[in-house]
Amino acid sequence: MPQRTFSIVKPDAVRKGFTGAILAEISKAGFQIVSIKKLSISKPQAEGFYAVHQGKPFFDALTTFMSSGPLVLLVLEKENAIADLRKLMGATNPANAEDGTIRKQFAGSIQENAIHGSDAEDTAAFEIGYWFAGYELV
Ligand code: CMP
Repeated sequence: MPQRTFSIVKPDAVRKGFTGAILAEISKAGFQIVSIKKLSISKPQAEGFYAVHQGKPFFDALTTFMSSGPLVLLVLEKENAIADLRKLMGATNPANAEDGTIRKQFAGSIQENAIHGSDAEDTAAFEIGYWFAGYELV
């Protein structure tokens, strides 16, 4: 059964012109794009999305960064989508990311790390529902 996951091409990657190259990697890896939209988000919207990280030392910088410019929101589908996207993304800190991963190729730092991907089924469901209405997912 195909599985859905949620992804963001983050503002650093959009600013650097990497959106197309990152979407190509995602497509080459066998993901279908169920839904896609480019928009700018507010700091409160970023805080709501990253609520699980509230209280962490990087929370303020992270939500300021995520609301610093346009990003691309994606709902992706394939067999084993959640784990496979995490593998394709590489480690959170690009310094630890393996060759060929998206973060190795396109990320600048642990914060400006080019891409987000859901880490589990329950977070994928929350994240898809946070950014997409049902009518955008048909
Ligand atoms: P993401 O997968 O979007 O989930 C939370 C984000 O917080 C993570 O990617 C990083 O961009 C950021 N992050 C995680 N750990 C740190 C850290 N130690 N310092 C700064 N940012 C971090």
